[in-house]
Amino acid sequence: MSLRIKDLFGIHVSFGLALAVLPAIGAAQAQTTGTSPEIEAIAQELGQFVKPRSGPFKPDEIKIANQTAIANWARSGHSDSHAEAFAHWDSEGEIPPVCATCHSGAGFRSFHGLDGSAPGVKKGPTPVGGVVDCDTCHNPALNKVTEVKFPSGLMHPVATTAEASCMTCHQGRAAGNMISKAVATLEPDAPNPELKFINPHYAVAAATWLGGYGGSGFQYPDKDYSGRFFHARPVETCVSCHEPHSLKVAQDACSTCHEDSKLDNIRLSRISYDGSGDLKKGLRADLAANAERLQGLIIDYATKVAGVPMVFDDHRFPYFFADANGDGRIDEQNGNAVAYNAWTPRLLQATYNWKFVTSDKGAFVHNPHYALELVYDSAQDLAGPMGLDFQAWNMMR
Ligand code: HEC
Ligand code: HEC
Ligand code: HEC
Ligand code: HEC
Ligand code: HEC
Repeated sequence: MSLRIKDLFGIHVSFGLALAVLPAIGAAQAQTTGTSPEIEAIAQELGQFVKPRSGPFKPDEIKIANQTAIANWARSGHSDSHAEAFAHWDSEGEIPPVCATCHSGAGFRSFHGLDGSAPGVKKGPTPVGGVVDCDTCHNPALNKVTEVKFPSGLMHPVATTAEASCMTCHQGRAAGNMISKAVATLEPDAPNPELKFINPHYAVAAATWLGGYGGSGFQYPDKDYSGRFFHARPVETCVSCHEPHSLKVAQDACSTCHEDSKLDNIRLSRISYDGSGDLKKGLRADLAANAERLQGLIIDYATKVAGVPMVFDDHRFPYFFADANGDGRIDEQNGNAVAYNAWTPRLLQATYNWKFVTSDKGAFVHNPHYALELVYDSAQDLAGPMGLDFQAWNMMR
């Protein structure tokens, strides 16, 4: 706990927030009546570390809201300085400019010019230790940001500061047009040593959400794709479902409209997308089943068409590795794992889509239709050259 609190204290908070936040933390010890035991406990801890020595510190004038916000935030992934997403650069001591935009509050502020610098990727490196701090989303200048650029080049207009912040960091780092450019006019089934895996990056919720309009998935030229998933008015923004500090999904909110509001059970569609005919299970299970089928096809295609077996390792970048002798183990060269090296255009397109859809744990709610379409089209495309009877699986898109 103490480390996280140091982060909170070490962060750059704007003057207004510093005044509002810090005394509130100090006040936590004195003013905990009426809050839950959980928040009381965390407030006690916070009080010990960050109690200001002097200053305008009047517990009876402090708003309780900050205390709740801080306690919720302190338990979320956004404050977890030990997470790989923040600690990745600790040994280097600084975060490269292109990474800092999303991996440190200071990098984010610089990217949007909130710190007085010119907007755009920060010029110099950012010191390590920053997290998604309060001033990332509450910086007063953030309301001047009216559009956010997506990896496809799309400029998406944003109406609120919450949208501006979430959309900047949860958009991923690649787009379908990057795949198109990489494969250009190459022979679809010919392995090409110039091709490398293109990683969509992680937690790409906003990219999924914008669907075909955002252009983040690889969209097959002869197909149509669903656009942004508007869902329903009360749940049309990130923070209408995610509490912005704890980041938890307000699941009660689902039961207003969905009869069975357990995430795994929600379903409206009367179509069995995975061909199982089971309309009782949630839509999430259909998407998961199709993604799993696609993963199987990727592995089969690698051996049968590209000619080099592939091993997938979720814990090791770049995730797809070569297994030339087919013994089920990743090949090594000088003690290093050999990245997959027989990419064909068709394989790269499908694998990118599989990674894009599965890297968003909430894809089934952020944009179920777009996710299902990408997986279906990728599976269909791979099945062709292997001579498989795609229709027989009854998958739907
Ligand atoms: C400066 C970049 C940045 C901004 C702005 C940002 N996020 Fe995040 N978000 C991250 C990173 C990095 C992680 C991964 C943190 C980790 O692994 O501990 C993350 C994690 C999450 C998670 C996963 C849950 C968890 O506890 O790890 C959710 C949900 C989330 N963010 C939603 C949002 C929403 C909603 C917004 C807008 C209100 C938002 N984020 C704004 C960078 C950002
Ligand atoms: C557009 C925003 C954005 C940019 C730019 C960005 N990242 Fe990320 N990255 C994220 C988000 C959001 C996550 C959080 C995923 C999670 O763990 O929930 C993440 C996660 C990670 C992780 C943790 C992955 C894991 O398995 O937990 C690593 C490592 C990483 N990024 C490296 C980089 C590097 C290196 C760069 C620069 C070359 C970079 N990122 C640029 C948004 C970004
Ligand atoms: C990822 C973005 C994000 C971060 C980080 C963040 N907030 Fe917020 N906060 C929001 C949003 C969005 C709202 C809701 C604003 C609205 O309703 O217009 C909000 C609302 C609030 C409120 C109003 C009461 C409430 O809880 O709804 C307070 C107080 C607050 N934040 C304090 C903080 C403090 C203190 C921190 C740092 C410990 C922090 N916030 C970090 C996005 C964020
Ligand atoms: C209709 C409600 C809804 C909306 C709107 C929504 N989400 Fe989600 N989100 C969810 C659900 C449900 C999950 C899956 C949570 C789970 O599996 O526990 C999720 C998962 C996530 C995750 C992955 C969390 C993790 O633990 O890995 C991130 C990141 C995320 N959402 C960010 C966003 C962002 C950013 C936006 C806005 C672009 C957004 N969400 C809009 C409901 C929503
Ligand atoms: C205001 C009503 C409303 C609320 C609240 C709501 N939804 Fe929905 N949901 C809908 C409607 C309407 C659709 C159909 C939208 C469409 O397909 O265009 C839908 C579709 C879905 C789907 C796709 C289902 C399918 O079979 O196609 C999922 C998954 C989903 N919602 C999850 C959630 C989650 C999770 C929450 C709570 C965080 C939530 N919804 C809250 C109205 C709502």
